[in-house]
Amino acid sequence: MTGRREVVSPVREAQAAPDPVEIADEVRLRPRRLEEFLGQPQLTEHLEIVFEAARRRGQPVDHILFAGSPGLGKTSLAGIVAVEMGVGFRVTSGPAMARTGDLASILTDLQPGDVLFIDEIHRLPRPVEEVLYPAMEDFQLDIVIGKGPTARSIRLDLPRFTLVGATTRTGLLTGPLRDRFGFLGRLDLYAAEDLCGIVERSAGILGVDVQPKGAWEIASRARGTPRIANRLLRRVRDFVEVRAEGPVTAELASVGLDLFGIDELGLDKVDRAILDALCRKFGGRPVGLVTLAQCVGEEPDTIEDAYEPFLLQQGLLQRTPRGRIATPRAFEHLGMEVAAQASGGHEPTLW
Ligand SMILES: Nc1ncnc2c1ncn2[C@@H]1O[C@H](COP(=O)(O)OP(=O)(O)OP(=O)(O)O)[C@@H](O)[C@H]1O
Ligand SMILES: [Mg+2]
Repeated sequence: MTGRREVVSPVREAQAAPDPVEIADEVRLRPRRLEEFLGQPQLTEHLEIVFEAARRRGQPVDHILFAGSPGLGKTSLAGIVAVEMGVGFRVTSGPAMARTGDLASILTDLQPGDVLFIDEIHRLPRPVEEVLYPAMEDFQLDIVIGKGPTARSIRLDLPRFTLVGATTRTGLLTGPLRDRFGFLGRLDLYAAEDLCGIVERSAGILGVDVQPKGAWEIASRARGTPRIANRLLRRVRDFVEVRAEGPVTAELASVGLDLFGIDELGLDKVDRAILDALCRKFGGRPVGLVTLAQCVGEEPDTIEDAYEPFLLQQGLLQRTPRGRIATPRAFEHLGMEVAAQASGGHEPTLW
């Protein structure tokens, strides 16, 4: 792992808008049908049943909420709902709907059966959210026309539609909104075998010659996240095109990923900065989220949504009532001796 270069964190890349060529690639790689959506076997089985039941009844599917970390496939699944049901697909997002009128104009424009996808639904302003309640429940829209004493409220009938919401934070959704979804699909981090299948599928679409062991090497460093797996594949493709030739072998993938600063667990420099702060700066003592975020120069939300789930899953970090702590495995990963606190010692602490 010597000679590692400073590059943009793939986790941050997974959240930020990439360059136009990468956007075009991402669109090509997006699964369109449920059968192309690899992994998440329980969720896809449930969806298959929900779709089939709705088809048999000749009705639109119930409103669906997809929750999970960035890059796990929420937007892809929203599109799949529309394709599988053979209906129109309208896309908007919580922050894009500043006023109730914005939502009203989208709702009144829907065709029967359409899927309306609201990304980042936890960021809908409260008044807009309140317009959504009767629309979801009774397919009715209450709008106020005029102002002051002459203002009057009228009620419009809407076509039956399916609302698909996506959120990285189910905890931030209000109870009334969450309760109006008939199906909640939680996306978990992917198993390496599933990611391996995704890397192979993407390599096929992009025309990259990847050996099975090369795909495995990329998948096992992709933090359980398809979008990151696709990004790593593209970086390995760049590396092989410029510095080597022939198919992507395990060794080439490994050297390429090392060069781009992705270690064998898939941790990037922000992950390592988090572990470094917990292990070295705080010596294994509990650290509050805000303090930790300040130490590594990230927003607390980003730490919680994008970094922490994987570190928790890997058993490198633990959440305790007093704060985040590094586990013995984190110390080992950094090549440090395990601090007393991390191995079970209970020293009083200021954090
Ligand atoms: N199950 C899957 N099978 C194959 N490819 C997938 C799968 N899930 C995601 N992908 C790939 O990962 C990319 C990112 O997925 P998507 O945009 O759906 O994630 P997201 O959950 O909406 O992320 P965000 O929270 O950042 O909006 C897609 O373009 C697609 O190529
Ligand atoms: Mg998305």
